[in-house]
Amino acid sequence: MAEDPFRTIFEPFRIHSVEPMRITTWAERAAALAAAGYNLFELRAEDVLIDLLTDSGTGAMSAEQWAGVQRGNEAYAGSPSFRRFRAAVTGLFPFRHVLPTHQGRAAEKILFTVTGGPGRVIPNNTHFDTTRANIEFTGAQAVDLPIPEGLQPALRHSFKGNMDVAALHGLLAERAAAVPLVMLTVTNNSGGGQPVSMANIRAVREVCDQYRKPLFLDACRFAENAWFIKTREPGYADVPVADIVRQMAALADGMTMSAKKDPLANIGGWLALNDDSLAEQCRSLEILTEGFPTYGGLAGRDLEAIAQGLSECIDESYLRYRVRSIAYLGEALERAGVPVVVPFGGHAVSLDARALLTHLDPLHYPGQALACALYQEGGVRACEIGTVMFGLRPDGTEAPATMDLVRLAVPRRTYTQSHIDYVIEVVTRVAGRAGQLPGMRIVSQPRQLRHFTARFAPLD
Ligand SMILES: Cc1ncc(COP(=O)(O)O)c(C=O)c1O
Repeated sequence: MAEDPFRTIFEPFRIHSVEPMRITTWAERAAALAAAGYNLFELRAEDVLIDLLTDSGTGAMSAEQWAGVQRGNEAYAGSPSFRRFRAAVTGLFPFRHVLPTHQGRAAEKILFTVTGGPGRVIPNNTHFDTTRANIEFTGAQAVDLPIPEGLQPALRHSFKGNMDVAALHGLLAERAAAVPLVMLTVTNNSGGGQPVSMANIRAVREVCDQYRKPLFLDACRFAENAWFIKTREPGYADVPVADIVRQMAALADGMTMSAKKDPLANIGGWLALNDDSLAEQCRSLEILTEGFPTYGGLAGRDLEAIAQGLSECIDESYLRYRVRSIAYLGEALERAGVPVVVPFGGHAVSLDARALLTHLDPLHYPGQALACALYQEGGVRACEIGTVMFGLRPDGTEAPATMDLVRLAVPRRTYTQSHIDYVIEVVTRVAGRAGQLPGMRIVSQPRQLRHFTARFAPLD
């Protein structure tokens, strides 16, 4: 059926229940934007037509996942739902300890509360915003070590998410005592989910071994990463995705996870690790902030949905559809002359706002300006990943981020090809008048994670 040589992107599911969408007018969207302080996180979801803010927790669950929700056992301790969850996790990631959490950032908070602190340094290919914030909150330093190719939006490279292994070596040679662990984010969220190769994970592992440092995966998009390894890395074409995932896990000592991404759940996460003494410290904290270790921050029904989602997200016809449909959006925008990050990632297409809005200084937030224009034009909500998200330093000073991107993150199994065709039209129209888009200024902002709540105004 959906095998080659058919060109149609085949969605390997039927629609089972539907959710109506509300079409708004230009004037309604202008009023909604102003009321939201030009911060798209502040919009009412009902005022958004196509919501590409994030792929996190926004996917559609399957009939089997909903059946799991019914099966959920809500015992405070010893729930069979926890055992099913743990079996599904360890079937792919055979770590000794699995601690459920309410989402990925809770796993990060627990891990870095135990391992971070002033004077500590934690390297990653690229820290996600909550990972960075959780590390910095403890007084530790979060260091990004992407390969240089990963920072050039127009440059093609099969594994743009790779870590710069020489830079990791250099950091450890200088400051090994300050580094409690090394992290690797698969896929690397920056650039829309750029994959990390098995060769790179192995090389990072070797450096970790040399300095006796544990390696933790931030594995939110492990299945999409494994699919890229299968389809792009020599030697993996005939290896089942589940085996590729197990090989990735075998190179690590632990993981943090948001079940809101590849595991196809609307909430959840976990921390998994092998080290018994570290696990004991983490479990004590988990009880303090999340709950008893057989439910973490979750209901039994959530654990069931995650367990079922884990078996569905490694299905190869699903992954083929998933990655192909992201590329469909990216290729159409590229043909229309819109600057995009290439090659296309696993969960999103990223627009290069700095290259499109060349008349704006990065400190006038070209990504924010472009994201607001997409909403104004057609009710499409995207996410700035640039100077608004990363430009504010812990000491309160501001500097341009490495890139100013606008990410169109595609929720899993949620939108059809005609929805994506509409998005292509909206982006292309906005790109046609990009030179007239005003920059933005910040009216008010918090000291941390400012992109969620800052208020903006368009520059005159
Ligand atoms: C790479 C990465 N790590 C961690 C997180 C945090 O997960 P959560 O939103 O479940 O707290 C995210 C969420 O978007 C992510 O993309």
